[in-house]
Amino acid sequence: MRLSEVAQSAEPSATLSLNARAKAMAARGEDVVMFTVGEPDFDTPENIKQAAVRALQAGHTKYTPAAGTMELRRAIADKLEKDNGLHYEPEQILVSNGTKQALYIVMLCLLNEGDELLLPAPCWVSYPAQAEVCGGRPVTIDATGTADLKLTPAMLESALTERSKLLLLNSPCNPSGVVYTGDELRALVEVALEHDLWILSDEVYEKLIYDGLEHVSVASLGPQALEHTVTFNGLSKTYAMTGWRIGYAAAPRELIEAAGRLQSHLSSGPNSIAQKAAVEALTGEQDSVGEMREAFARRRDMIVQGLNAIEGVRCRRPQGAFYAFPDCRELLGHTYAGRRVEDSLSLSEALLETVKLAVVPGAPFGAEGYLRFSYALADSDIENGLKRLAEFVGMRED
Ligand SMILES: Cc1ncc(COP(=O)(O)O)c(C=O)c1O
Repeated sequence: MRLSEVAQSAEPSATLSLNARAKAMAARGEDVVMFTVGEPDFDTPENIKQAAVRALQAGHTKYTPAAGTMELRRAIADKLEKDNGLHYEPEQILVSNGTKQALYIVMLCLLNEGDELLLPAPCWVSYPAQAEVCGGRPVTIDATGTADLKLTPAMLESALTERSKLLLLNSPCNPSGVVYTGDELRALVEVALEHDLWILSDEVYEKLIYDGLEHVSVASLGPQALEHTVTFNGLSKTYAMTGWRIGYAAAPRELIEAAGRLQSHLSSGPNSIAQKAAVEALTGEQDSVGEMREAFARRRDMIVQGLNAIEGVRCRRPQGAFYAFPDCRELLGHTYAGRRVEDSLSLSEALLETVKLAVVPGAPFGAEGYLRFSYALADSDIENGLKRLAEFVGMRED
């Protein structure tokens, strides 16, 4: 079969494929500890599930408008005003099948062949893949050499070319857990605006921030920032709703209208019942959000401490999201239980095969030598997983 060039070039998502391998092993009855999953281990809160049941019973089972129901777009606009200090009209919101789809459709709207999307690395694996499907050119800016893995204005300046079109910012960041301060964002926005870039601000982890830090929305940094930023968010991480597939983009009206037209051909409006549930998530009681954040904060402390106690593993303290992203470069270039480990991929394969520990290699995130551990799992699994990592390191033969 002769597939298109786009289809041939698309790699499977590294996070999803390792997770699938680990799940297949678990399904065969093997005792695998999985740090690969990028979703809360909590169930969706009951009030949200009940709203979906009511929606079904009331017959909300038909197509909705392509950009989402007006009720949900209004609830999102209210949330953005209240939580983020952003003023958007409901018509400036696109509701999609997850934030992932919102990102893709907006890239389709903004990228022409060869236009560059600037990405501070480490970054989430789907951004470069999506830009390529849209004909764009992902340009990663390596921030792994900085003490806190953050993009600086000077690094951004030096990556600019005349084809630079979009800058992707993701705070809190998957995979590093880094959170940018308002001042850091302001300095980056200044450079972006000077060079007429659009900023795509992926804020899906905004509610998972620890140590009393505050989330700052890029678009809140002034009227020009608002005009040149697309704010992305979704319900997956905040409300443990990964399977419901509701995410959104907020932007100037002309862009959202174009995105709505594309979405009407690509997928139509998102699931009608999930949209009703999303209204309840955003407007109902929010206690569960704080409870989940507290649990994640506790697990973060546990995993960071445990990782740093293992020789050759160095882990910064992530300030947001639910990932630990240790630097494991000292573990490379050695043999463990007969297996040579040269890079993050061979390290994660060796971990899976020798001690049945599933983690995601750093290379697809643009950070060779690092591993990503999701700590969205039970305390006992975290403890068990850390023991296995220590056991593996102890198998070193040279
Ligand atoms: C940084 C980032 N953005 C977006 C998404 C996609 O989220 P959704 O489930 O809303 O499509 C993820 C999911 O892992 C993510 O980590």
